[in-house]
Amino acid sequence: MHPESFLYRLHFQSQAVIPSDWEVDWEDAPLPYKLYKELPSFLLDHHIPLNPSPLGRRKLEGAEWIGHFLWFAYGLTQFAHTATPADSEEKTSTSFPSLRRFAPSGGGLYPSELYLYVKETPFAQGVYHYDAAHHRLVLIREGNFDDYITKTLGLRLDVSSCKAVCFITTVYWKNFFKYHNFSFRLQGLDAGAVISQTEETARQFGLHSHVHLSFLHKAADHLLGLNRLEETTLGILALSEQEIPAATGKEELTGASLIEEIPAVQTTCYQRSKHIKPHQDILQLHEAAVLSSSSLFRTNASVPQQEKYGKDIYPLSESRATTSSFRDACMNRCSPEGDFIDRSMDAGKIAALLKQSTLPDVSSISIYLCINGTDRIDAGAYEYDPASHSLLTIEKGDFRQMLQSGMTMHNVPLHHTPLCIHVAGARNVDAGGYRMQLIHAGRVMQRILLAASALGMNGHPLLGFHVPIPDSIYQLDIRKQTTLIQIPIGYHTPKSRLSGVLHA
Ligand SMILES: Cc1cc2nc3c(=O)[nH]c(=O)nc-3n(C[C@H](O)[C@H](O)[C@H](O)COP(=O)(O)O)c2cc1C
Repeated sequence: MHPESFLYRLHFQSQAVIPSDWEVDWEDAPLPYKLYKELPSFLLDHHIPLNPSPLGRRKLEGAEWIGHFLWFAYGLTQFAHTATPADSEEKTSTSFPSLRRFAPSGGGLYPSELYLYVKETPFAQGVYHYDAAHHRLVLIREGNFDDYITKTLGLRLDVSSCKAVCFITTVYWKNFFKYHNFSFRLQGLDAGAVISQTEETARQFGLHSHVHLSFLHKAADHLLGLNRLEETTLGILALSEQEIPAATGKEELTGASLIEEIPAVQTTCYQRSKHIKPHQDILQLHEAAVLSSSSLFRTNASVPQQEKYGKDIYPLSESRATTSSFRDACMNRCSPEGDFIDRSMDAGKIAALLKQSTLPDVSSISIYLCINGTDRIDAGAYEYDPASHSLLTIEKGDFRQMLQSGMTMHNVPLHHTPLCIHVAGARNVDAGGYRMQLIHAGRVMQRILLAASALGMNGHPLLGFHVPIPDSIYQLDIRKQTTLIQIPIGYHTPKSRLSGVLHA
């Protein structure tokens, strides 16, 4: 497999990288969460306060903050039975069960896992897996790893000043079993959504988070005791009570030398599937994305700034739109699918939503949008310019039919949503750059979804679309960019599902 040509097909002709006879064996599906066997585990507080504004009102300590924090970041938050419309022949509707979390996930499969380096009592200092199924911590290895993690981050952050460190991984088989090679794109985006949800949760807890996508991957995997044929670390988030300035990390470090510093740990897991099919291409792509030395770390400064090229400029207002609390935004977030309704959107809401969408630390990601059905903005395709908080017109017109025709499944009615956002990144990047862009796009996606939910609407992330369609609408090939995720946003009726919140 040649990674660059494979990536091209994966992105622009994704059907070409999935065997035509690929069949999903639902009977042998893996669990949507990871379970460790025979390791010490510690139950976390299940009494998550769900009355308004539980976060930030008082300082949470020790086990309490860890339990609440992890539940908001990546806990199982809802058990739902979703009804599917009646089949015309059988005339009966069916329903399927799912365990939902606050971050979305392609197909609801949740390939990401969360690990936590804990530094405070009552837990022994060490590295734990967050067992979402039981809302508990499972001890992987005990000890002080401040120095090791600082080196894993290429000396860019002093971990001894941090309160805790989160590691977001992806378990390949958890979504490969359904999506085959297409799962690579979902793994990056899903991890980005979890990182963003964790960042926002940290902010609500009054903590600073320092997100690192450039780190010594093999050293991180070694620390967590991962089997690299099954799982790898995609992002590291250090949490601190005070702002910590980033360091330059002048000394060159390598993953190979770092893993010699601590012994390997052996663990056993249960994931239900009896037959795990080979996923060689995915393994090779993740391997090609590995940073083996800190001299290879990508900095934001090395990404060329995109020139804005829109014609007319629509300055957006500093919106005073009413937004709900973080807790309510999380609880009300859902992917509306076929439940979007045809209702126009106030331009002030678009302004409020876009204001919260961008990542200040990332310049390689751009936001484009098709608008149709707002009061003060003409229907058309636009680029959002965060610096001036304005829309730059690319072309006026109604692009809904074009976007709908580009969908691989027609389960989301794009003609009902007044807004369809496209998060874009650079074309022609290598495997590492592509994976990093997917993760950043996932971070932006989750910011958009939480903002939409807080404004009383919702967005439905979509990867099942033909990328050249939005690329042609925004003329992205000229800009050497391409679409990474599509998010229609609008109002909707309540989801036709029976659901219960999972907390004590
Ligand atoms: C990266 C990503 C891609 C997705 N792509 C699709 C898609 O192509 N079609 C679709 O119907 N839903 C898609 N979804 C939505 C998921 O199916 C949905 O998030 C999941 O079922 C969980 O439901 P929830 O978002 O309501 O919590 C995608 C979600 C993510 C995060």
